[in-house]
Parts: sequence; structure tokens; C-alpha cells
Amino acid sequence: MGYTFTTADVAYLRSRQGMKALEQTSLLELSSGSMIGDIADLRARYAPQDAALIETVRCRRRARGKLRNADDLLLTDDALQQSTNSVVAAHRAAEIAGRHRGAVVHDVTCSTGAELAELAGRDGIGGVIGSDLDDVRLAMARHNVPGVTLLRADALTPTSNADVVLADPARRSGGSRVFRLEDLSPPLLDVLTVYAGRNLAVKCAPGLDYSMLRNRFGFEGEVQLTSLDGGVREAVLWSGPGIAPVRRATVLRTGTAGAVTATEITDAASDDVPVGEIGEWIVDPDGAIVRAGLVRHYAHRHGLGLLDPQIAYLTGDSVPAGERGFRIIGQVGVAERALRKVLADHDCGSLEILVRGLDVDPDSLRKRLKLKGSRPLSLVLTRIGRKGTGFLCEPGVRF
Ligand SMILES: C[S@@+](CC[C@H](N)C(=O)[O-])C[C@H]1O[C@@H](n2cnc3c(N)ncnc32)[C@H](O)[C@@H]1O
Repeated sequence: MGYTFTTADVAYLRSRQGMKALEQTSLLELSSGSMIGDIADLRARYAPQDAALIETVRCRRRARGKLRNADDLLLTDDALQQSTNSVVAAHRAAEIAGRHRGAVVHDVTCSTGAELAELAGRDGIGGVIGSDLDDVRLAMARHNVPGVTLLRADALTPTSNADVVLADPARRSGGSRVFRLEDLSPPLLDVLTVYAGRNLAVKCAPGLDYSMLRNRFGFEGEVQLTSLDGGVREAVLWSGPGIAPVRRATVLRTGTAGAVTATEITDAASDDVPVGEIGEWIVDPDGAIVRAGLVRHYAHRHGLGLLDPQIAYLTGDSVPAGERGFRIIGQVGVAERALRKVLADHDCGSLEILVRGLDVDPDSLRKRLKLKGSRPLSLVLTRIGRKGTGFLCEPGVRF
């Protein structure tokens, strides 16, 4: 929980005076070692705005790598944590432009405007509206996305007839990793009800139990799981006229010079795959594919098989582009004493341990294995049927 901004703070930060003060503040180190001196300096020059200045510069620094133009933004600590990564937001904006050419898009929980920034001015987007209940965030959005129509409104009371509505309910329970529908604000089911029949995209945490939404609450739209550079970022519920009840995984990767590649797979693909024929490689599929329940579909597309029908490890004689593969040295038992001997025989000095389907904590196992050799290796621990098994592999390689 950072500094609590007021709309008066935001007005100051946007003023000519405030912008100059921000420039000066950004020259300071603001580290734990320098902070006492920095605060004294800023207090002498800018009190009572020193805390707002420090917090803004610190938020900007933390936003680098997540938000485009981070060094120009006004943010609160919470708003930054809740904001959509610019690469992910840009991909969504491009999808909306592709699906609904010329659409006016209304982000009904716009916060400080990370999604709006990627929608505004994009080819194929006809107009952008943002609304939120939080006055401070709206004031910051006014700075971050100039020219966009912004209003204070409850997402549960439709205030526009935009072609597409975008919502990103906030989690109320702070740091909890457990995802509960009732912890969202505005509540997810209410959003789905209020905008039923309209083109709607609702961003949720990736832990969303979307099969429960389908089975218990009759959600009939599309579920998209998106990852960026190997981390699963979000689940998005798309609904509206013509949207089919498919599952989709979108795997985004940033390359050199910020180029982004997107790989898509849906449950429309075949999921017919061999099980149990062990190839030269083990492939650990991207988390978006796993969470979307599309491991078999992905395996079929790339000519891979499954080690076990219930476990999301793939095997084959090649590794799909962008994926990490582990070349198998040999299959081993999971008993610790036997593992210790095999690893010593292979002169293992450092070990990446991957686990699926077994109750093993990789870090504590690694400590107990007391590696003394010099060679880096990988160990994939899993089960085939009911039996635990291991695969000693060369270090993982990204293709
Ligand atoms: C997770 S944040 C949205 C982040 C945004 N998508 C971004 O990328 O910056 C959720 C926002 O919903 C707003 N909110 C919560 N309940 C609301 C409601 N009933 N109506 C409108 N906004 C609401 C919060 O103030 C917060 O700014």
C-alpha cells in the first residue's frame, strides 16, 4: 500500500510547477540508502507535495517493463499492480479492432488507463471511452491518455451504447492467490448479466475456474488464456453475438527490439495424440496452453505425444519454436537414494527440477540431493499411470 493520492495532488503533478518538480525528483536515487537525505531535500523544496512526488517517481520506475511510456505516467501503487501489461493490452486492442472493425470501445473499469492507451488511436478502433468509480484514477487517466472521453460511472449501470465493452474487475482481497468470484469489484456475474447480449470482454485473473462459470452459471462465450514470455497473465471472457463457446490460448513472446509474436490454439483443433511413446525430448508446454486445457490439441498440432494422459508433459523428437525442450538422457526412479547415485554418476553440479503429478518440493529435494559434481542437468519428475518416474535430461533449451 503506497501513498494515498488526492485529486489535488494529481492537479499539482499535472501543473507546470509539478512537472518541473517531478523532473528534479526523478534525478534522485530514492533508494533505501539515500531516502532520508532525499526526503529532507524534497521537503525543503516542495513541501507539502514531497510525498506525492516521491511516490510518482517510484511508481514510474516500477512501471518500466510493464507499461509503455512509464516515465510519463501518473499512477498509484495499487493501480500499477492492477494494470494490464502494455504488450497484452495492445494485443487485445488489435483483436478487438480485427473482430469489430471501426468499433467504439468503452472500458468500464479504466483505472489509470493502461488499456485505453493501447486502444486510443489504433487503426480499426473507431473511438474510446473510459469510466471508473475512482476520482483519483480518473484524474490520472486524464493525464495518461489525453483526448479520450472519461467519465465517473458505475460499471454496473451502462452509460454508453459503445460497440464493445471491456471490463477488468479488481480483486478486493489484495495479495490472495485464491480466485473467488465474490472477491471481485464489480462482481463478475453482475458484469456478465448487465452486458448480456452486447459485445463484452472481461479480463479476469488466470486462476479463474472457467469450467464452473460454464457449468454452474451458464457462461456461453469464449474463454481465452493469455501468457506473456512464459507467465500466464489473464483469462478473458469474450461474449456477444456470434461468439462461440471455444477455449483459446494466446502465447505472446517479446523478441528483439520489442517485436511480439503471438501463437494461438483453440479447442477446434484435433486432440488426437499418442500416449506413452517416449521420444528424444520432453516439452513443457506454455502455462496458457495448460490452463486452457489445450495440451492435447497443441501436441497434435506439433506431432508430439503425452507421457501420461493426465499429465501436461509432452514428448517427441522435435521441439516447437518458442518452447523449452529437455533432451532425455535416461529414465530414472524417484527414490532419493537412487537419484543421488545417478546424479553423482553423471557428475551433476546443478539441477533444474520440474515436477508434475507428484508431491515433491523441488527446492528441498535439490538440497537433500547434495550435488557435488560440475555438470548442469535437468530432472523431470512425474507419474505415468500411478507410478512415479523421473527423466534425467540435459539443461532445458528454448527453441
Ligand atoms: C483491475 S482495475 C482495472 C485496471 C485497468 N484495466 C488497467 O489496465 O489499468 C479495476 C478498476 O475497477 C474500478 N471499479 C471497481 N468497481 C467499479 C464499479 N462498480 N464501476 C466502475 N469501476 C469500478 C476500480 O476503481 C479499479 O480502477
